[in-house]
This record gives sequence, structure tokens and C-alpha cells, in this order.
Amino acid sequence: MAFRTTTLSYAGVLLSALALGIASCSKGGGSGSNEPPTPTAPTAYALAVPAGFPTPVIPADNPLTNEGVALGRRLFYEKALSSTGTMSCGSCHQQSKAFTDGLPLAVGVDGVANPRGTMSLINALWSTQLTWDGAFTTLETQALKPLENAVELHQPLTVGVGKLQAIAAYPPLFLAAFGTSTITNELLLKALAQFERTLISGSSRYDTYMVTRLGLTTDEVAGLKLYTTHIAPGSVRGAECFHCHTQPLMSSNYEGKFFNNGLDHTFTDPGRGGLTKLAVDQGKFIAPTLRNIALTAPYMHDGRFKTLEEVLDHYSDHVQMNSPNLDPNLAAPAGINDPPFGTHMDLTATEKKQVVAFLKTLTDSTFITDKRFANPN
Ligand code: HEC
Ligand code: HEC
Repeated sequence: MAFRTTTLSYAGVLLSALALGIASCSKGGGSGSNEPPTPTAPTAYALAVPAGFPTPVIPADNPLTNEGVALGRRLFYEKALSSTGTMSCGSCHQQSKAFTDGLPLAVGVDGVANPRGTMSLINALWSTQLTWDGAFTTLETQALKPLENAVELHQPLTVGVGKLQAIAAYPPLFLAAFGTSTITNELLLKALAQFERTLISGSSRYDTYMVTRLGLTTDEVAGLKLYTTHIAPGSVRGAECFHCHTQPLMSSNYEGKFFNNGLDHTFTDPGRGGLTKLAVDQGKFIAPTLRNIALTAPYMHDGRFKTLEEVLDHYSDHVQMNSPNLDPNLAAPAGINDPPFGTHMDLTATEKKQVVAFLKTLTDSTFITDKRFANPN
């Protein structure tokens, strides 16, 4: 797999490194004081962006540094950030399951279920809309929710910060990453976001195929063709997936688009509409990434489908045609092409198998075993 190393964050890193240097000199503790030693400037993290992926935008006020990413990783797996001391971000976002938990609905520290399922965190640095309904636009602001939310880690962040300040290992790590050993909410959220931005997955068999045109079976290639073809009149067969789960990230998070994919005709969870209160947004959700999808069952915001076969049955045969705001691309033009196309996609058993076979090529085994993302403790 070809990688290019982005130079994007470097200017920002150098600038902030300089700024930190200056700051530490000017307040540099007088001799004999208890001030920690003058920190050395953090070093730029070399982000490897897979070929063909968009250029990521890293916030200018939170450049990726080796020290910040290492700290964020440790915090991601830190159970002191939960009220009970029993869970961390990594309890629900498990690397072996592409940072999901295998549950239909996430369960927090008090054993109470979240109304929605855990999402994969991969390639989140490209997301402009985070969570199922796009309630957050940055990783820095998103992280506060699971830390404090009653059905997740359930602890005020200031309490967590107090705990970390008292654990001997942490002040020096904050000093190395941010030039101060005084832990704050803001720095903790920044470090978590830095680690999350490094969770890049782009080494699946599909990625190799896109560069070499080699390595996929006939069925997998047929599945890719269906994935990337519109439901269309005539003899062309299409499954429409690419329309919402857009290549190369196989999601709509980075385009900030929400859709109703026809699961229901009345909505228990209004999704995007719950936030905007607009009638046109009722029942719309982000189209999450399909990378590593074979590892992240069960599926949909409420975990209603146990297998990819059930997902294909939904799109092919059970899209609710009378659902308000149904995306028109999921309804084949009735009559034009009937049979084989009705108002439903009406895939054959073979076509469903081919799409499922293709989805499995999106598994990135390098990513789920990458030691840089594992629990460091
Ligand atoms: C109890 C399980 C649980 C824990 C613990 C948890 N999460 Fe999550 N995470 C979820 C759920 C559920 C969602 C979807 C939330 C929604 O849509 O309302 C989610 C979504 C996310 C997303 C959005 C991903 C995307 O693609 O849009 C990010 C980022 C995230 N979590 C980061 C974190 C971080 C950082 C922590 C630790 C501070 C954490 N999570 C702790 C369950 C959990
Ligand atoms: C009109 C846009 C659209 C099209 C076309 C579409 N999807 Fe989706 N997809 C979505 C949305 C939106 C969701 C999230 C829905 C929810 O949870 O309520 C989703 C969810 C999924 C999920 C569950 C993801 C997870 O993390 O739980 C899978 C798997 C999936 N789609 C596969 C496919 C496949 C395969 C195709 C083609 C046959 C396809 N999608 C076509 C919009 C679309």
C-alpha cells in the first residue's frame, strides 16, 4: 500500500513548538524552585495518509505531535476517567472490533444502555459530522459527551482531571505534550483528539485492488461493480451503495450528509431531525463508514441487523417505501424496469452474496493489529 506523508500539520507543529519554547523560557522557574524542568518542544507526528484519500484538515490549534498522540492513547484507555474506575473509551471502542463493541446498544458504567450503538472511530479525522446524527463537528468537542454522559463514563471532566493530576505519571506527560504539567479539560480533550486522528485504516484488500487491479475474486469484483452502480433502467444492475457510502472512505461523515435509508416509517429515534427539528431531517442518519464492516456487527444506529446478509435483505427487499424523507435513490424507478426492478432494488441471491463478499474485502487486518493503537498499559 502506497502512503504519502502529509506535511500539512508540520508548519503548525513547528510554530507551536517555537511558542512553547518561548513560553517555557519566560516562565522558566527560578533556580531552586519546584518548577519542573524546562520542557523540550514536542515533535511532529508523521501522519501516513493512504493513497487516494483526501488531504485531512488538522485544526491549527491542535497539531499532531508524538507526545500528544502518546498521551491521548494512554487517556483513551484510562479507567480513572470513569466514575466507577471500571471503563474507558477503549471499553466500548475496541481495536479488535474496529473500535466498536459488538453490542446493539452501548452500555455505560452503570449498566444502563445508550439509545444507540457504538460507532467505529476509524478515519474520523476526515469527519466533519460526528455521531449518528452529526451532533458534533470536531473530535475535541465530541469527547466531552462520552466522558460525562450518564450512559457512558458518567463523570464530570473536572473530577477526571483532578484524578489524573494526582497520578504521578500524568503531569510529566502533559508537560511533554503541551508544555505545562497543569492538566486542564481543554488539554485532555486535545490529547484524546490527537490520538483519534491517528486511527487511519486504508490497507484493505480493496485498497490494494484499487491501485493494482489485482487480488479480488470474480465475486468480489462483481460486488464492487454492484456497490458502485446506480439502480438504473435497462440491463445494468446496481445496488447504489456508493451513493451514500462514498469512496474512498465509504461513508458520508466527511461530506456531512444525512439520509433516511428506509428502515422505518415511524421513527423511534428521529436522528438528524432530533437536532435540527426540521421535518425534512426526520429519520435521517449519517451513512457510517463501511470499512471494516465485517468486524462491527450488529448494524445500524440501533443494532437491529445481526449480519451483513440481513443488511442486504433490507436494502434489496424491505426498504420502507412510505417512509417520510426516504432517499429517492433507494427506490428504483417503478415500471421502467419491472421486472427485474420493482420499486425495490430486488437483488438476486447471487448479487446479495457478491455485495457481501465485496464488503468483506474492506477489512484491514493491519489496522486492527497495529500496536500503535493498542492499550499501552
Ligand atoms: C458506553 C460506551 C462508549 C464509551 C465508553 C465511549 N463511547 Fe464513543 N460512542 C459510543 C456511542 C453509542 C456512539 C454513538 C453516539 C450517538 O450517535 O449518539 C459513540 C460515538 C463516538 C464517536 C463518533 C464517531 C463517528 O464516526 O462519528 C467518537 C469520536 C467517539 N465515540 C469517541 C469516544 C471517546 C473519545 C470516548 C472516551 C472519552 C468514548 N467515545 C467513549 C459509545 C461509547
Ligand atoms: C440513501 C443512502 C444510502 C444508500 C444508498 C445505502 N446506505 Fe447503507 N446506510 C445509510 C445510512 C443513513 C445508514 C445508517 C442508518 C441508521 O442506522 O439508521 C446506513 C447504514 C448501513 C450499514 C450499517 C453500518 C453500521 O455501522 O452499523 C451497512 C452495513 C450499510 N449501510 C450497507 C449498505 C450497503 C451494502 C448498501 C448498498 C446495497 C447501502 N448501505 C446503501 C445510507 C445508505
